[in-house]
Amino acid sequence: QGMDLAQARAALRAARRVAVLTGAGISAESGIPTFRDAQTGHWARFRPEDLASPGAYRRDPELVWAWYAGRYRDVLSAQPNRGHDLLAELERQKGAGFFLATQNVDGLHARAGSGSAGGKLVELHGNLSQARDEQTGEVFPLPHPDELTLPPLSPGGQPMRPNIVWFGEFLPEAALDAAQRAFAGAEVALVIGTSSVVYPAAGLAHETRRRGGVVIELNPEATDLSAHADLSLRETASRGLELLMERA
Ligand code: NAD
Ligand code: APR
Repeated sequence: QGMDLAQARAALRAARRVAVLTGAGISAESGIPTFRDAQTGHWARFRPEDLASPGAYRRDPELVWAWYAGRYRDVLSAQPNRGHDLLAELERQKGAGFFLATQNVDGLHARAGSGSAGGKLVELHGNLSQARDEQTGEVFPLPHPDELTLPPLSPGGQPMRPNIVWFGEFLPEAALDAAQRAFAGAEVALVIGTSSVVYPAAGLAHETRRRGGVVIELNPEATDLSAHADLSLRETASRGLELLMERA
């Protein structure tokens, strides 16, 4: 560890350009299961290749849509938590120098105000409340789950797929390029609530390190990134952000 909490606080206060990566862990306190938690994680109950892959969708589109529609309903009834709110506050402090890349598809960052407080938000893995026309690539908002008939049809009457990046698929190029540039230029990178095992998202913080920026991780457990972080706080997202932003 290169840094203690006081130094990390000072680095965050002084930084003009801050890049943040979040994963399922920041939404855990909103009651949304993570992926790799041994007991409650999605992948503890389903094999990801059976649900979150192009092959699964080709084999059984109804099953895949039923699973995603269920997760869509769950996230609509969830609320952003203090971690989401503190990131929106950090964006208000940093303005255009703030960039948030999330792997989450639950839409909670946007509902907390991220992306419309002067900075930028990109959803690297899509969003549960959208469907995508496979012919044109166009993305459409889904109706409320109570009005949702599956599969949703494009204006051309074609069945659409969930607008989610599945295992083995490429991320939206523009979002990934913007994220890589933001992390390369950041003085401070925060990596919050992700196991940092899935690429290319897991590689973003290394862009910051390579250019001498500070990397701070917030996670109750150690991850592959922890040894490379200047400070890795064994805290939840909300508690860790309260400590970093001196809101404790
Ligand atoms: P993978 O390694 O199997 O497939 C993606 C591979 O392609 C990776 O090696 C990655 O580096 C590369 N890649 C992806 N986008 C790229 C791009 N735009 N440009 C260049 N290379 C690119 O990874 P994976 O674990 O199978 O998952 C693929 C993506 O789908 C990951 O980002 C993952 O997090 C996401 N995913 C989302 C869900 C969900 O429910 N939201 C579920 C599973 C996977
Ligand atoms: N606060 C912060 N972190 C937490 C909390 C919390 N309250 N609770 C759990 N965590 C941490 C766990 O320790 C774990 O490291 O959140 C992380 C969740 O990791 P994963 O379940 O692997 O989720 P994520 O890293 O987002 O997965 C990446 O893989 O399946 C694909 O596309 C899917 O976006 C997902 C990607």
